[in-house]
Amino acid sequence: MVSGNWKMHHDHIEALHTVRDLGLRLKPEDVARVDVSVHPPFTDLRTVQTLVEADRLPVILGAQHCNDHDRGAFTGEVSPQMLARLGVRYVVVGHSERRHLFGMSDEAVAATLAAVLRHGMTPILCVGETGEERAAGRTEERLSAQLTAALTGAEPAAVAAMVIAYEPVWAIGTGNAATAVDAEDACLFVRQSVESVAGAEAGQAIRIQYGGSVNAENAADYMAEPDVDGLLVGGASLDAASFVEIVRASAPRR
Ligand code: PGA
Repeated sequence: MVSGNWKMHHDHIEALHTVRDLGLRLKPEDVARVDVSVHPPFTDLRTVQTLVEADRLPVILGAQHCNDHDRGAFTGEVSPQMLARLGVRYVVVGHSERRHLFGMSDEAVAATLAAVLRHGMTPILCVGETGEERAAGRTEERLSAQLTAALTGAEPAAVAAMVIAYEPVWAIGTGNAATAVDAEDACLFVRQSVESVAGAEAGQAIRIQYGGSVNAENAADYMAEPDVDGLLVGGASLDAASFVEIVRASAPRR
């Protein structure tokens, strides 16, 4: 699964052009074995939904975040119920920018994950260590804490259907991508942690993405690793041509 996280880029007019371009470029063979999702800003969702549905584009609608309440006095927030009504199927939960720039705690991540599941959508749960944590040899400790906080208590069947994105914070938006070997080591550790929290079946079934400075040149290297099942792409997903190249480079060869 290859997911494009647009972050705070593209207004609804730009979104329209980008998704139309994506729809023209993506061929049936590109999406035969790769699920492709886009995660535009909230103000674009209705536009993208309408286009994807009207033209039957092979793109899955995703969001970047939501509140954990269904409704209420939460000024500025968007509820999971609102996203579900718009046909959103995947929601990024606990992206490192939410955690670090907006103070999203492990507890808030867990509550949001539960809210997304409650509305029949699939979370893309983001985990990852900072550069300091990696330098201190604390990568696995941090991943394990994030996963345990988010997944404890979730139904194993729901966990099996989820997506987890391993995104080392130091690799996001820096051009300093993790090596394929480091990504594989972390993704394998994520899988083993999922197995210990939710059972072997969930661990085997869950899809694990790598994210952090992915581009058309390095995508295939990650996808060649046995425990990397997909990619979460930021900067390189904003342009349809570069995103489609990443999708093509990600098609399973094994
Ligand atoms: P990047 O962002 O590809 O621009 O590094 C990835 C992400 O934050 O999901």
